[in-house]
Amino acid sequence: MLQARITGTGSSTPKRILSNKDLERIVDTTDEWIIRRTGIKERRISAKGEKESTTDLATHASLKAIEMAGISPASLDMIVVGTVTPDRQFPSTACMVQQLLSADNAAAFDVSAGCSGFLYGLSVVDNAIRSGTCGTALVIGVERLSAILNWRDRGTCVLLGDGAGAVVVSSAKEQGGILSTHLKSDGTLWELLYSSDGNPYTPEILQGIDTKPFQLSMDGNRLFKKAIGCLSSIAKEALQQNSLSSEDVNLLVPHQANIRIIRAIAKTLCIPTEKVYTNIHRYGNTSSASIPIALDEANREGLLRKGDHVLLISFGAGLTWGASIVRWSI
Ligand code: ACO
Repeated sequence: MLQARITGTGSSTPKRILSNKDLERIVDTTDEWIIRRTGIKERRISAKGEKESTTDLATHASLKAIEMAGISPASLDMIVVGTVTPDRQFPSTACMVQQLLSADNAAAFDVSAGCSGFLYGLSVVDNAIRSGTCGTALVIGVERLSAILNWRDRGTCVLLGDGAGAVVVSSAKEQGGILSTHLKSDGTLWELLYSSDGNPYTPEILQGIDTKPFQLSMDGNRLFKKAIGCLSSIAKEALQQNSLSSEDVNLLVPHQANIRIIRAIAKTLCIPTEKVYTNIHRYGNTSSASIPIALDEANREGLLRKGDHVLLISFGAGLTWGASIVRWSI
Protein backbone atom coordinates (compact mmCIF):
# COMPACT_ATOMS: atom_id res chain seq x y z
CA MET A 1 0.00 0.00 0.00
CA LEU A 2 1.25 3.50 -0.84
CA GLN A 3 1.93 5.94 2.02
CA ALA A 4 2.62 9.69 1.99
CA ARG A 5 5.79 10.79 3.77
CA ILE A 6 7.03 14.26 4.63
CA THR A 7 10.55 14.35 3.17
CA GLY A 8 11.43 18.05 3.46
CA THR A 9 10.34 21.14 5.41
CA GLY A 10 11.00 24.85 4.90
CA SER A 11 9.81 28.22 6.11
CA SER A 12 10.23 31.90 5.36
CA THR A 13 9.22 34.96 7.35
CA PRO A 14 9.59 38.67 6.61
CA LYS A 15 12.64 40.46 8.00
CA ARG A 16 10.69 43.29 9.60
CA ILE A 17 9.74 42.69 13.25
CA LEU A 18 6.73 44.51 14.72
CA SER A 19 7.02 44.31 18.51
CA ASN A 20 4.30 44.78 21.11
CA LYS A 21 6.03 48.06 22.02
CA ASP A 22 5.61 49.21 18.39
CA LEU A 23 1.90 48.37 18.64
CA GLU A 24 1.60 50.53 21.79
CA ARG A 25 2.22 53.47 19.42
CA ILE A 26 -0.62 52.39 17.08
CA VAL A 27 -3.50 51.23 19.31
CA ASP A 28 -4.49 51.49 22.98
CA THR A 29 -2.66 48.39 24.19
CA THR A 30 0.33 47.31 26.26
CA ASP A 31 3.14 44.81 25.87
CA GLU A 32 2.07 43.33 29.21
CA TRP A 33 -1.60 42.80 28.09
CA ILE A 34 -0.62 41.16 24.81
CA ILE A 35 1.86 38.76 26.42
CA ARG A 36 -0.46 37.85 29.30
CA ARG A 37 -3.59 37.30 27.16
CA THR A 38 -1.96 35.76 24.03
CA GLY A 39 1.71 34.83 24.60
CA ILE A 40 2.75 36.99 21.62
CA LYS A 41 5.85 39.23 21.95
CA GLU A 42 6.43 40.14 18.31
CA ARG A 43 5.31 39.28 14.79
CA ARG A 44 6.79 39.62 11.28
CA ILE A 45 5.30 42.07 8.79
CA SER A 46 5.99 42.11 5.04
CA ALA A 47 7.51 45.30 3.70
CA LYS A 48 7.35 46.77 0.21
CA GLY A 49 10.44 46.25 -1.90
CA GLU A 50 11.67 43.31 0.17
CA LYS A 51 10.36 40.50 -2.05
CA GLU A 52 7.99 39.44 0.72
CA SER A 53 4.70 39.08 -1.14
CA THR A 54 2.56 36.00 -0.47
CA THR A 55 4.06 34.40 -3.59
CA ASP A 56 7.64 35.34 -2.58
CA LEU A 57 7.31 33.96 0.96
CA ALA A 58 5.70 30.76 -0.34
CA THR A 59 8.46 30.30 -2.92
CA HIS A 60 11.30 30.87 -0.40
CA ALA A 61 9.78 28.34 2.01
CA SER A 62 9.26 25.84 -0.83
CA LEU A 63 12.86 26.09 -2.06
CA LYS A 64 14.11 25.17 1.43
CA ALA A 65 11.73 22.19 1.67
CA ILE A 66 12.72 21.04 -1.83
CA GLU A 67 16.41 21.29 -0.96
CA MET A 68 15.92 19.22 2.20
CA ALA A 69 13.93 16.59 0.28
CA GLY A 70 16.68 16.46 -2.35
CA ILE A 71 14.24 16.52 -5.26
CA SER A 72 14.03 18.52 -8.44
CA PRO A 73 11.02 20.89 -8.83
CA ALA A 74 10.29 19.11 -12.12
CA SER A 75 9.44 15.95 -10.14
CA LEU A 76 6.51 17.66 -8.36
CA ASP A 77 3.11 16.33 -9.48
CA MET A 78 1.05 18.70 -7.32
CA ILE A 79 1.38 22.05 -5.55
CA VAL A 80 -1.33 22.93 -3.01
CA VAL A 81 -1.32 26.29 -1.23
CA GLY A 82 -3.43 27.11 1.83
CA THR A 83 -3.96 30.86 2.03
CA VAL A 84 -6.62 33.50 2.66
CA THR A 85 -4.30 36.34 1.64
CA PRO A 86 -3.23 35.69 -1.97
CA ASP A 87 -1.51 38.52 -3.84
CA ARG A 88 -4.43 38.55 -6.28
CA GLN A 89 -7.80 36.85 -6.65
CA PHE A 90 -6.50 34.82 -9.59
CA PRO A 91 -4.46 33.09 -10.83
CA SER A 92 -3.85 31.02 -7.72
CA THR A 93 -0.80 31.51 -5.53
CA ALA A 94 0.05 27.88 -6.32
CA CYS A 95 0.34 28.69 -10.04
CA MET A 96 2.53 31.72 -9.28
CA VAL A 97 4.81 29.52 -7.15
CA GLN A 98 4.84 26.82 -9.83
CA GLN A 99 6.14 29.36 -12.33
CA LEU A 100 8.89 30.62 -10.01
CA LEU A 101 10.00 27.07 -9.16
CA SER A 102 9.80 25.88 -12.79
CA ALA A 103 7.78 22.95 -11.48
CA ASP A 104 6.49 22.34 -14.99
CA ASN A 105 4.82 18.99 -14.34
CA ALA A 106 2.70 19.96 -11.34
CA ALA A 107 -1.04 20.57 -11.06
CA ALA A 108 -1.30 23.69 -8.90
CA PHE A 109 -4.22 25.11 -6.90
CA ASP A 110 -5.09 26.96 -3.67
CA VAL A 111 -7.39 25.94 -0.84
CA SER A 112 -9.24 28.47 1.32
CA ALA A 113 -9.79 27.04 4.78
CA GLY A 114 -8.65 29.85 7.10
CA CYS A 115 -6.00 28.76 9.58
CA SER A 116 -6.68 25.13 8.62
CA GLY A 117 -5.54 25.70 5.01
CA PHE A 118 -2.29 23.78 5.46
CA LEU A 119 -3.94 20.70 7.01
CA TYR A 120 -6.68 20.75 4.35
CA GLY A 121 -3.92 20.82 1.69
CA LEU A 122 -2.01 18.04 3.43
CA SER A 123 -5.15 15.90 3.44
CA VAL A 124 -5.72 16.40 -0.32
CA VAL A 125 -2.12 15.43 -1.05
CA ASP A 126 -2.17 12.47 1.36
CA ASN A 127 -5.23 11.06 -0.42
CA ALA A 128 -3.81 11.73 -3.90
CA ILE A 129 -0.60 9.89 -2.99
CA ARG A 130 -2.42 6.95 -1.36
CA SER A 131 -4.58 6.56 -4.47
CA GLY A 132 -1.50 6.50 -6.70
CA THR A 133 -2.48 9.58 -8.74
CA CYS A 134 0.39 11.67 -7.33
CA GLY A 135 3.99 10.72 -6.51
CA THR A 136 5.52 13.90 -5.06
CA ALA A 137 3.77 17.06 -3.88
CA LEU A 138 4.40 20.37 -2.23
CA VAL A 139 2.01 21.65 0.46
CA ILE A 140 2.38 25.29 1.46
CA GLY A 141 0.71 27.45 4.12
CA VAL A 142 1.29 31.15 3.54
CA GLU A 143 -0.26 34.41 4.73
CA ARG A 144 0.26 38.14 4.54
CA LEU A 145 -2.37 39.01 7.11
CA SER A 146 -0.87 42.47 7.68
CA ALA A 147 -2.55 43.43 4.39
CA ILE A 148 -6.09 42.78 5.64
CA LEU A 149 -5.84 43.88 9.27
CA ASN A 150 -7.78 46.80 10.65
CA TRP A 151 -4.90 48.63 12.32
CA ARG A 152 -7.41 50.55 14.48
CA ASP A 153 -8.82 47.36 16.05
CA ARG A 154 -6.68 46.40 19.05
CA GLY A 155 -8.71 43.19 19.44
CA THR A 156 -7.29 41.76 16.20
CA CYS A 157 -4.25 43.69 14.93
CA VAL A 158 -2.08 42.56 17.85
CA LEU A 159 -2.71 38.86 17.13
CA LEU A 160 -1.65 38.21 13.54
CA GLY A 161 1.49 38.15 11.42
CA ASP A 162 2.97 37.16 8.05
CA GLY A 163 4.97 34.12 6.94
CA ALA A 164 5.10 30.86 5.03
CA GLY A 165 5.89 27.21 5.64
CA ALA A 166 6.10 24.29 3.22
CA VAL A 167 6.55 20.54 3.16
CA VAL A 168 7.47 18.12 0.40
CA VAL A 169 5.38 14.95 0.56
CA SER A 170 6.51 11.86 -1.33
CA SER A 171 5.06 8.45 -2.01
CA ALA A 172 6.63 5.43 -0.28
CA LYS A 173 5.77 1.76 -0.01
CA GLU A 174 6.91 1.31 3.60
CA GLN A 175 4.61 1.80 6.61
CA GLY A 176 4.63 5.22 8.27
CA GLY A 177 4.46 8.79 7.12
CA ILE A 178 1.09 10.54 7.35
CA LEU A 179 -1.00 8.06 9.36
CA SER A 180 -4.31 9.93 8.91
CA THR A 181 -5.84 13.34 8.35
CA HIS A 182 -9.15 14.55 9.83
CA LEU A 183 -11.08 17.60 8.61
CA LYS A 184 -14.22 19.36 9.92
CA SER A 185 -16.14 22.54 9.06
CA ASP A 186 -19.11 24.44 10.47
CA GLY A 187 -20.24 27.16 8.05
CA THR A 188 -23.09 28.21 10.35
CA LEU A 189 -20.44 29.96 12.49
CA TRP A 190 -18.74 31.88 9.64
CA GLU A 191 -19.51 35.23 11.28
CA LEU A 192 -17.11 34.49 14.15
CA LEU A 193 -14.19 35.26 11.81
CA TYR A 194 -14.39 36.80 8.35
CA SER A 195 -12.99 39.44 6.04
CA SER A 196 -15.12 42.23 4.64
CA ASP A 197 -14.78 45.37 2.58
CA GLY A 198 -13.33 47.99 4.85
CA ASN A 199 -11.80 51.38 5.22
CA PRO A 200 -8.07 50.74 5.22
CA TYR A 201 -6.08 52.74 7.69
CA THR A 202 -2.31 52.61 7.60
CA PRO A 203 -0.65 54.03 10.70
CA GLU A 204 2.56 55.96 10.19
CA ILE A 205 4.65 53.15 11.63
CA LEU A 206 3.40 50.85 8.88
CA GLN A 207 3.75 53.27 5.99
CA GLY A 208 5.33 51.65 2.99
CA ILE A 209 3.46 48.43 3.70
CA ASP A 210 0.73 47.58 1.22
CA THR A 211 -2.81 47.37 2.61
CA LYS A 212 -5.90 46.11 0.81
CA PRO A 213 -9.54 47.18 1.15
CA PHE A 214 -10.50 44.05 3.10
CA GLN A 215 -10.55 43.81 6.83
CA LEU A 216 -10.64 41.01 9.31
CA SER A 217 -13.46 40.85 11.89
CA MET A 218 -13.42 38.44 14.78
CA ASP A 219 -15.47 37.44 17.81
CA GLY A 220 -12.42 36.45 19.87
CA ASN A 221 -14.26 35.25 22.97
CA ARG A 222 -16.56 32.81 21.18
CA LEU A 223 -13.71 31.58 18.95
CA PHE A 224 -11.54 30.99 21.99
CA LYS A 225 -14.06 28.60 23.60
CA LYS A 226 -14.96 26.92 20.32
CA ALA A 227 -11.28 26.37 19.45
CA ILE A 228 -10.55 24.51 22.68
CA GLY A 229 -13.56 22.18 22.27
CA CYS A 230 -13.05 21.47 18.54
CA LEU A 231 -9.29 20.95 18.74
CA SER A 232 -9.46 18.66 21.76
CA SER A 233 -12.11 16.46 20.19
CA ILE A 234 -10.47 16.18 16.75
CA ALA A 235 -7.11 15.37 18.36
CA LYS A 236 -8.78 12.56 20.33
CA GLU A 237 -10.46 11.29 17.14
CA ALA A 238 -7.08 11.16 15.35
CA LEU A 239 -5.40 9.32 18.23
CA GLN A 240 -8.26 6.85 18.51
CA GLN A 241 -8.29 6.05 14.78
CA ASN A 242 -4.60 5.13 14.97
CA SER A 243 -4.95 3.22 18.27
CA LEU A 244 -2.57 5.70 19.91
CA SER A 245 -2.78 7.42 23.28
CA SER A 246 -1.55 10.87 24.33
CA GLU A 247 1.55 9.17 25.75
CA ASP A 248 2.48 8.02 22.24
CA VAL A 249 2.67 11.65 21.03
CA ASN A 250 6.30 12.79 20.85
CA LEU A 251 5.46 16.33 19.74
CA LEU A 252 2.21 18.29 19.50
CA VAL A 253 2.47 21.02 16.85
CA PRO A 254 -0.69 23.10 17.27
CA HIS A 255 -1.93 26.10 15.30
CA GLN A 256 -0.38 29.08 17.07
CA ALA A 257 -3.43 31.27 17.81
CA ASN A 258 -3.15 31.91 21.54
CA ILE A 259 -0.84 30.38 24.16
CA ARG A 260 -3.83 29.97 26.50
CA ILE A 261 -5.70 27.90 23.88
CA ILE A 262 -2.57 25.76 23.33
CA ARG A 263 -2.10 25.17 27.09
CA ALA A 264 -5.77 24.31 27.60
CA ILE A 265 -5.69 21.71 24.81
CA ALA A 266 -2.42 20.19 26.01
CA LYS A 267 -3.96 19.90 29.50
CA THR A 268 -7.14 18.26 28.15
CA LEU A 269 -5.05 15.80 26.14
CA CYS A 270 -2.62 15.21 29.06
CA ILE A 271 0.37 16.17 26.89
CA PRO A 272 3.16 17.77 28.98
CA THR A 273 4.45 21.25 28.05
CA GLU A 274 7.85 19.93 26.95
CA LYS A 275 6.10 17.94 24.20
CA VAL A 276 4.26 20.99 22.83
CA TYR A 277 6.01 23.13 20.21
CA THR A 278 5.30 26.85 20.41
CA ASN A 279 6.75 29.82 18.55
CA ILE A 280 3.75 32.14 18.93
CA HIS A 281 5.91 34.57 20.97
CA ARG A 282 7.98 35.29 17.82
CA TYR A 283 5.40 35.18 15.01
CA GLY A 284 1.90 35.62 16.49
CA ASN A 285 -0.86 33.87 14.57
CA THR A 286 0.20 33.36 10.94
CA SER A 287 -3.01 31.45 10.08
CA SER A 288 -2.38 28.66 7.55
CA ALA A 289 1.39 29.23 7.78
CA SER A 290 1.59 28.61 11.52
CA ILE A 291 1.77 24.78 11.53
CA PRO A 292 4.29 24.41 8.67
CA ILE A 293 6.53 27.16 10.13
CA ALA A 294 6.43 25.47 13.56
CA LEU A 295 7.02 22.03 12.01
CA ASP A 296 10.02 23.31 10.05
CA GLU A 297 11.53 25.00 13.10
CA ALA A 298 11.01 21.90 15.27
CA ASN A 299 12.59 19.77 12.53
CA ARG A 300 15.60 22.07 12.06
CA GLU A 301 16.07 22.38 15.84
CA GLY A 302 16.48 18.57 15.93
CA LEU A 303 13.36 17.98 18.04
CA LEU A 304 12.03 15.27 15.70
CA ARG A 305 13.49 11.79 15.29
CA LYS A 306 12.61 9.08 12.79
CA GLY A 307 9.59 7.15 14.04
CA ASP A 308 8.31 9.96 16.32
CA HIS A 309 4.55 10.57 16.36
CA VAL A 310 3.77 14.21 15.58
CA LEU A 311 0.22 15.45 16.20
CA LEU A 312 -0.81 18.48 14.11
CA ILE A 313 -4.02 20.37 14.98
CA SER A 314 -5.53 23.53 13.49
CA PHE A 315 -8.60 25.73 13.84
CA GLY A 316 -9.74 28.81 11.95
CA ALA A 317 -12.15 30.78 9.78
CA GLY A 318 -15.01 28.88 8.21
CA LEU A 319 -15.16 27.60 10.82
CA THR A 320 -12.73 24.86 9.89
CA TRP A 321 -10.59 22.57 11.99
CA GLY A 322 -8.40 19.57 11.41
CA ALA A 323 -5.84 17.12 12.74
CA SER A 324 -3.18 14.82 11.39
CA ILE A 325 -0.83 12.28 12.91
CA VAL A 326 2.51 11.89 11.18
CA ARG A 327 5.11 9.20 11.91
CA TRP A 328 8.25 11.24 11.29
CA SER A 329 10.44 9.91 8.49
CA ILE A 330 13.16 12.49 7.78
N1 ACO B 1 -4.92 45.54 24.47
C1 ACO B 1 -5.54 45.88 25.64
N2 ACO B 1 -6.78 45.53 25.92
C2 ACO B 1 -7.46 44.82 25.01
C3 ACO B 1 -6.89 44.43 23.78
C4 ACO B 1 -5.57 44.82 23.53
N3 ACO B 1 -4.92 44.50 22.40
N4 ACO B 1 -7.80 43.71 23.08
C5 ACO B 1 -8.91 43.64 23.83
N5 ACO B 1 -8.70 44.33 25.00
C6 ACO B 1 -9.63 44.53 26.10
C7 ACO B 1 -11.06 44.38 25.69
O1 ACO B 1 -11.56 45.60 25.15
C8 ACO B 1 -11.72 44.04 27.01
O2 ACO B 1 -11.89 45.23 27.74
P1 ACO B 1 -13.21 45.44 28.66
O3 ACO B 1 -13.14 44.33 29.68
O4 ACO B 1 -13.01 46.80 29.21
O5 ACO B 1 -14.37 45.29 27.73
C9 ACO B 1 -10.65 43.20 27.73
O6 ACO B 1 -9.42 43.51 27.07
C10 ACO B 1 -10.89 41.72 27.66
O7 ACO B 1 -11.19 41.38 26.30
P2 ACO B 1 -11.49 39.92 25.86
O8 ACO B 1 -11.86 39.91 24.41
O9 ACO B 1 -12.45 39.28 26.83
O10 ACO B 1 -10.06 39.25 26.06
P3 ACO B 1 -9.67 37.76 25.91
O11 ACO B 1 -9.00 37.32 27.13
O12 ACO B 1 -10.80 36.91 25.38
O13 ACO B 1 -8.56 37.80 24.76
C11 ACO B 1 -8.30 37.28 22.43
C12 ACO B 1 -8.92 38.23 23.46
C13 ACO B 1 -6.81 37.32 22.60
C14 ACO B 1 -8.70 37.77 21.05
C15 ACO B 1 -8.82 35.85 22.66
O14 ACO B 1 -10.22 35.87 22.77
C16 ACO B 1 -8.44 34.88 21.54
O15 ACO B 1 -7.29 34.56 21.37
N6 ACO B 1 -9.43 34.36 20.82
C17 ACO B 1 -9.22 33.30 19.80
C18 ACO B 1 -8.60 33.83 18.57
C19 ACO B 1 -8.56 32.70 17.56
O16 ACO B 1 -8.39 31.53 17.90
N7 ACO B 1 -8.77 33.00 16.32
C20 ACO B 1 -8.95 31.90 15.38
C21 ACO B 1 -7.89 31.75 14.51
S1 ACO B 1 -7.47 33.26 13.71
C22 ACO B 1 -7.60 32.96 12.01
O17 ACO B 1 -8.18 32.02 11.54
C23 ACO B 1 -7.03 34.03 11.12
